[in-house]
Amino acid sequence: MTLRHNSLSAENTSSHESVSLSSNIEFTPAFQDSEKHIRIYQRDTFDVLKMLLCKKENGVFDMIFVDPPYFLSNGGITCQNGRMACVDKGKWDRSRGVMENHKFHTEWLSLCQKLLKPNGTLWVTGTSHVIFSVGFAIQELGYKILNNISWEKPNPPPNLSCRYFTHSTETIIWAAKNEQSKHFFDYAQMKQMAGGKQMKTVWKIYPPKKEEKVFGKHPAQKPVELIERCLSASTKENDLVLDPFMGCGSSLIACLNKKRRFIGVEQDEKWVDIAIKRMGHYKEYGW
Ligand SMILES: C[S@@+](CC[C@H](N)C(=O)[O-])C[C@H]1O[C@@H](n2cnc3c(N)ncnc32)[C@H](O)[C@@H]1O
Repeated sequence: MTLRHNSLSAENTSSHESVSLSSNIEFTPAFQDSEKHIRIYQRDTFDVLKMLLCKKENGVFDMIFVDPPYFLSNGGITCQNGRMACVDKGKWDRSRGVMENHKFHTEWLSLCQKLLKPNGTLWVTGTSHVIFSVGFAIQELGYKILNNISWEKPNPPPNLSCRYFTHSTETIIWAAKNEQSKHFFDYAQMKQMAGGKQMKTVWKIYPPKKEEKVFGKHPAQKPVELIERCLSASTKENDLVLDPFMGCGSSLIACLNKKRRFIGVEQDEKWVDIAIKRMGHYKEYGW
């Protein structure tokens, strides 16, 4: 069964800090496909995470993939299509100051930790704007850090100021729920993908392909291939995956490709619409 609407069966609250939910609150998904086990909520992620937690207190997700706001749209410049451009990904990406940003990351990390199954794992992407805060919060909360991956972008835009190295990597932290977790790692598959050698923590992966942007592109879109690798490394077929900052659904497509069940949350209708269109395209063409 599929549906597409934005109606809510709980009170609408704009500030995540003021939300306290009781176990009988149920937000209506913006999209649901029971056959493929996909659900998308168009709403503030803190509301949805709290609702999911009320329903299942002991952890329900095998893996959580998070590409959070990096809070880097603060008047800097970048190079886009060979031209100088202002870095402005949207209001959601504006910094609130170091301490507020850290509070934000600590809050979603804390909810995600509770939502992970005992042996479940978390993947978080980030640049220097965000990754140190996320890494510190992960340690404060008692997750167990398993690896930090360097995602190398083979064709980064040049640094126009010529006063810095050109940024060409992002970090991806892989962490287990806590020190007691016995996380799953598909060592054999990773070794096979690495040509028979142990896979290293530097992953060279190109940005999203043209066909990943046919319905519009998100300013922070991640390549499906990158997320597929995280899924292959740490989950099995039919496992349940959460993306609390889904954007235009790259993790959703990766889950369809790898036959994982999926719940995504995104507050902006524009990105939810693209994600739904990408799914339709997926069904037609099977990529
Ligand atoms: C870095 S982008 C994710 C991009 C995604 N990985 C993709 O490939 O399309 C972060 C997304 O989080 C959303 N977002 C930010 N704060 C949110 C919140 N409190 N609740 C729900 N979504 C939020 C933004 O609208 C944005 O689309």
